Amino acid sequence: MANNQKVIITSDLRADMRSVLDGRAPESIYILADETTNKQCLPALMDACPELKACKVCVIGAGDTHKHLDTLASVWQFLSENGATRRSTMINVGGGMVTDLGGFAASTFKRGMSYINVATTLLGAVDAAVGGKTGINFNGLKNEIGVINSSEAVVIDTEFFSTLDHANKVSGMAEMLKHGLISNAEEWRKVSSFDMEKFDLKELRPLLASSIAVKERIVEEDPTEKNIRKALNFGHTFGHAFESFSHEKGTPALHGYAVAWGMIPELYLSHVLLGFDKNILSQAVRLIRETYGVMSITCDNYDHLFELMTHDKKNVVKDEINFTLLGGIGDIRINQHASRKLIDEAFDFYRDSMGL
Ligand code: GLY
Repeated sequence: MANNQKVIITSDLRADMRSVLDGRAPESIYILADETTNKQCLPALMDACPELKACKVCVIGAGDTHKHLDTLASVWQFLSENGATRRSTMINVGGGMVTDLGGFAASTFKRGMSYINVATTLLGAVDAAVGGKTGINFNGLKNEIGVINSSEAVVIDTEFFSTLDHANKVSGMAEMLKHGLISNAEEWRKVSSFDMEKFDLKELRPLLASSIAVKERIVEEDPTEKNIRKALNFGHTFGHAFESFSHEKGTPALHGYAVAWGMIPELYLSHVLLGFDKNILSQAVRLIRETYGVMSITCDNYDHLFELMTHDKKNVVKDEINFTLLGGIGDIRINQHASRKLIDEAFDFYRDSMGL
């Protein structure tokens, strides 16, 4: 499976799409969008690149509930009925749901056709669209079925982010904060000082480029997540538990919010177990609380949150929860473990930090 992909943060969508498509005939290109990007992004993409108007378009429902086998089957059906071949190309226009599902559909149709991601959300651009993870949810489990197979290219036009509401912008920013913490002090300084109230997309562009480069370097070193790619899970072990819990309570949190909250207990474990600097911990806590607000938990929820962490199969090795922690900014320590007592202490720390 291919693992090298071009990532283009475009300032000329027409020229960059042309160069990526490299003379491919419109009949050999199939476009996947969801109901939102079909309305909000596809018209602009087709204006920039009129030859795409001749391509067949498949529109799927928006949202994670559609990251489902039935939707995948409908995309395979669309490709089959419209004569796609192994030499065809799929263009996925959307956030993480579309690029994950579309990437999987393309990677498996006729044993694999090429695909290009046009990332339309900040979260997708900085994470899902890059690095080749594709798949669908199955049997109630997230990303249970999929393959790692990179797109040929990821094209990012930050203009598309202007249709996002503030919450979706800062949700994407959480993965950039994570990239800052797992890379180096300068990257952390840049992302942590970005004005998230103003959220100027021009100012975001250089930050986005260096943040994506953090992920690219890691994926290049370990595309199949045998070791250092686990660094990208920082904040996600607690974060996924917070995310699932928020869904159970009927107040679903955006993924980035849950990851931001998850970084607080994981920074605490990093401090206690590996000596992560207390001042940077406090700075991160302040920033997260100010930007993402508070998700309320009580000590009565600890058992259940712990259970949710153990359900996340990716985190559990031989009955122990596997954390990626940090000895300092950029000092990545994968395969770390913490006692149940310390995990409860990390929940206490989260509650104290959030004033709960
Ligand atoms: N989203 C984490 C990764 O791509 O490995």
